[in-house]
Amino acid sequence: MATPYYLSQRPRRNRINASIRDLTQENRVTANDLIWPVFIKPGRQVNEAIKSMPGVSRMSLDVLEAQVCELMPLGLKALALFPIIEDSLKDSKATEAINKNGFLPESIKRLKDKFPELVLITDVAMDPYSSDGHDGIVENGKILNDPSLDILAQMACIQAEAGADIVAPSDMMDGRVGHIRQALDESSFSEVGILSYTAKYASCFYGPFREALDSAPKFGDKKTYQMNPANSLEALRELELDLAEGTDMVMVKPALAYLDIISQLKAHSTVPVAAYQVSGEYAQITLAAQAGIMNLEQARNEALISIKRAGADLILSYFTPEVLRSLR
Ligand code: PBG
Repeated sequence: MATPYYLSQRPRRNRINASIRDLTQENRVTANDLIWPVFIKPGRQVNEAIKSMPGVSRMSLDVLEAQVCELMPLGLKALALFPIIEDSLKDSKATEAINKNGFLPESIKRLKDKFPELVLITDVAMDPYSSDGHDGIVENGKILNDPSLDILAQMACIQAEAGADIVAPSDMMDGRVGHIRQALDESSFSEVGILSYTAKYASCFYGPFREALDSAPKFGDKKTYQMNPANSLEALRELELDLAEGTDMVMVKPALAYLDIISQLKAHSTVPVAAYQVSGEYAQITLAAQAGIMNLEQARNEALISIKRAGADLILSYFTPEVLRSLR
């Protein structure tokens, strides 16, 4: 007798061949799940590689537009825009962040004009514009909450006026969602949505991003506003507040090390949940693949499906272009 005892349950039957595995697959990553974060830089024909993120570059708009033309037919739906701001324009009040004719608003106008269907998501935080490299106003070494809210609200209105579809506050100041919502509504941008970075952790996985934007804090760290990686109840508290303040979508960031937070937010949220596979997560996979340690496509796909399985409705990923190409 081959069978040691009678087995009526054999889960392996559903894994027996590729077709049955496809039929029984519970989760999928599709083009409709993906948001492509991009680093944009003034100029023409700029395509500067970022050393810690092989395959990702700082692009001028013409280079980005060529990519968008290729990727929209493959299902690209949305960009998250991150502008690179010249050092000479940075100051302690992030004045350039509220310049209506600044690089970001001009870029939004141009992209919206060329690609009206493309969803443009813009980051609301002071760090790329701040000489201190912090997300809010700094005074005597402290990051001030309430005075930062007005600047963030102005940023959001300028981005909305330029044509942003969704503004994404990534600053983690208390009360920013409500403050931004009210400012948008008062300026007749009630149709502009908010994707709040609800559970944004103080993470070392943002390192390559800060290199890409040259936006690392000039002193200290971001632990007085971004969340402690040890905490999860606190994420639910942030979720409650953001929902009450009127957010349209919530986000967990980073993604792979915070899958439990994604599931918890998904279980408690009445709005879609996004997850940001951040720069350090991208770097881990691409650099390990370059070193011959893991297969790039397999590692990428496994990370993305895990984020989906945990409950993310949307994923911000630097892998978006390659995934869209591979889905075709
Ligand atoms: C800006 C911001 C950061 C990221 C997105 N928006 C950096 C930070 O908070 O220091 C990180 C994204 C990534 O690492 O890919 N507040």
